[in-house]
Amino acid sequence: MLSSIQKVSCTINPQRLAPLGVAARSFISTWSNVPMGPPDAILGVTEAFKADKDPKKMNLGVGAYRDDNAKPYVLSSVRKAEKIISDGLLDKEYLGILGLPTFTNLAAQLAYGTELDAFQEKRIAVAQSISGTGALRIGGTFLKRFYPHSKTIYIPTPTWGNHKAIFNDSGLEVSQYRYYDKNTIGLDINGMLEDLKNIPEKSIVLLHACAHNPTGVDPTKEQWNQISDVIKERGHFCLFDMAYQGFASGNTDADAHALRKFVSEGHNVALCQSFAKNMGLYGERAGTFSVICNDTEERSKVESQLKILIRPMYSNPPLTGARIVSTVLENPDLKQEWLGEVKMMADRIIDMRVSLKKHLLEDYGSKKNWNHITDQIGMFCYTGLTPEQVSRLTKEFHVYLTKDGRISMAGITTKNVKHLAYAIHEITK
Ligand SMILES: Cc1ncc(COP(=O)(O)O)c(C=O)c1O
Repeated sequence: MLSSIQKVSCTINPQRLAPLGVAARSFISTWSNVPMGPPDAILGVTEAFKADKDPKKMNLGVGAYRDDNAKPYVLSSVRKAEKIISDGLLDKEYLGILGLPTFTNLAAQLAYGTELDAFQEKRIAVAQSISGTGALRIGGTFLKRFYPHSKTIYIPTPTWGNHKAIFNDSGLEVSQYRYYDKNTIGLDINGMLEDLKNIPEKSIVLLHACAHNPTGVDPTKEQWNQISDVIKERGHFCLFDMAYQGFASGNTDADAHALRKFVSEGHNVALCQSFAKNMGLYGERAGTFSVICNDTEERSKVESQLKILIRPMYSNPPLTGARIVSTVLENPDLKQEWLGEVKMMADRIIDMRVSLKKHLLEDYGSKKNWNHITDQIGMFCYTGLTPEQVSRLTKEFHVYLTKDGRISMAGITTKNVKHLAYAIHEITK
């Protein structure tokens, strides 16, 4: 038997193997109908940046904080929390479907504050999520399943590039409301209010809680009042996306203003929360999705459905990020240190805004009005540059950013801000 196998294998002509193999592969191909998808807009920017060998190159594409040497930054409060966790020799058992209870509790407290009735009366249903993106996906699916009045969500124009895909994949229809006015490079408050008045009653409306991505344009307190009035009048449901709490003003309470105001005014609200930016936990994927309920009984029902929804998606959420966040938030010294670090990150970004504008006006004598650089808030600046100008910035000055003219302020440092000002001046004069 053995010798006959050897004999057969010896008769195969190796030179014929390759063509035979190719023919066999194409004959059985199941995936020939799969079209090539477009590359991710932001990752494409990073790849082009990596390939550039010029020492002046700047990556202003990716929305992740960098220190003044343009290097990733791990918070000291986070390092200390990690040490406490590793010294504790904790187990690695599964979490429950809704996550780590200390984490979800402290996260809700950070977002909503302890004074709101909803928090005190324990009627906020909270699920730990795979960071902000996962929270939006749970939220989209929950609304599609249970929101009784509409299956359409209205998102601002423009908005974070992933919103539309997340909500479409959750089964919701996606429509838009006006938000940004390219003439003023600011908020189109009249357009926004008009659209919110004209969409069907009890629609679902996505609101960025602070540090709007990509524009960096947030409503003022007075404008939030106007938005709140219209939303109340029309009975809309608000889904808040809070991916940058603390990053706008440097103060986590100030950045939660809109969310807390809406809840205190009795709005119907849900929240997607992320710790990627404000704790620098980009890869740890710690976040929450929460829903304000009428009473504790309703909360239990909502939580039971969140469990049913999450269980077949990923069973239960990851442990490490939630442990880090709860260790920081439950330890008063670490929390204080963390709040200081959030302020430090926000302040560095604000300083870079001031410096960029100053170089443009004072060093290069730009005649343009660059007030929007300092008026906008949070990680991003929507420069108002055209796609052609963006392309020149990259080709001639080695500055990498998305085509919409959005720059991540976090990639600007005291060492490269002057080069950026020079480049922007050259392409806009
Ligand atoms: C507006 C907005 N929402 C949500 C997210 C989700 O972030 P993550 O999934 O990393 O928490 C981002 C990230 O850039 C964002 O800008």
